[in-house]
Amino acid sequence: MLDITPFKFEEGRLYILDQTKLPNEEVVIELRTKEDVWDAIRELKVRGAPAIGVCAAYGLYVSVAGSDEDTDTFLKRVREAADYIDSSRPTAVNLSWALKRMVRALEKTLTDDPSISLSEAKAALLDEAREIHREDVDACMTMGKYGLELLKPGMGILTHCNAGTIATSKYGTCLAPIHLGQERGYGFRVFCDETRPLLQGARLTAWELVKNGVDTTLICDNMAAIVMKNGWVDAVVVGCDRMAANGDGANKIGTSGVAILAHEYGIPFYMFVPTSTIDLNTPAGCDIPIELRQGEEIFEMWYEKPMAPGEVKTYNPSFDVTDHEYITAVITEKGIVRPPYDINLKKLFEESDNV
Ligand code: MRU
Repeated sequence: MLDITPFKFEEGRLYILDQTKLPNEEVVIELRTKEDVWDAIRELKVRGAPAIGVCAAYGLYVSVAGSDEDTDTFLKRVREAADYIDSSRPTAVNLSWALKRMVRALEKTLTDDPSISLSEAKAALLDEAREIHREDVDACMTMGKYGLELLKPGMGILTHCNAGTIATSKYGTCLAPIHLGQERGYGFRVFCDETRPLLQGARLTAWELVKNGVDTTLICDNMAAIVMKNGWVDAVVVGCDRMAANGDGANKIGTSGVAILAHEYGIPFYMFVPTSTIDLNTPAGCDIPIELRQGEEIFEMWYEKPMAPGEVKTYNPSFDVTDHEYITAVITEKGIVRPPYDINLKKLFEESDNV
């Protein structure tokens, strides 16, 4: 299995692979303060819903680890830092999910034993970050195995954005079965959408798959229809940033168009969604907050000179919502979920076998 991780926590320090520098440079930076963490998430140095969640958990810990105060003040500091880091990006629910878990773990520790020392309180916080990390590694591996049950050797697979090793703690979500299949000689042929405007497909997925020896073909986003019409795509696999209770799933901008095309061409569309990305408190896709980013990313960022007049108006939503009726199956670490999603997603949190 490909061995790259987007971050590591070693000897109390948090390091991330700066994904804005890929594929040309592999630069590792250290995050020390809550501002470092906020900036790294906001600027997509660390990105992908699960990686954001785990990194925010460790980031919260490192940002308060040097505090020297009573435990009540420490709790207040942790809550404030968590709220601040949570404001960095709105769509991927893993961010608030992980931060809430961290704060709750500390609150519980202090409620269970109000007399514990500050260093014990800090240790409890770190334990929770390690647990969130461990669960994510396991979830990705399990989703990879479930995903492989849906795919056959030699298949053509189209993917959008990057839901791979570097978007998680390890293996990826929708790229986990591809990496796993590569180890087992499945010989998948992967079509990778470049994913405008930030090129996660071209810069990250193509880099990651080629590095692992997978047969990878890069296409521009507007070429998905022709490769489907040519009969080269047997399945579409994508990740998710937040799945609502009815099964609508927000993912990188352009995903919903790919799903509609897949539906038109009768191609199964699989969304890989760890339970940390399912938000039963959000009833439907229209309730998911969609991040809007600056227009420069569209007309300037990847060009030597601006390729559109500077005065032009832009609209740059970072995500769109794929309606649940276009999703053939949702692959989670607890099993493969089929429609009706409003019923079966709820069941998933009660049972652990395939729903
Ligand atoms: O803006 P990004 O690069 O963070 O968007 C990432 C995606 O849309 C991924 O597909 C999603 O987070 C799932 S990552 C396993």
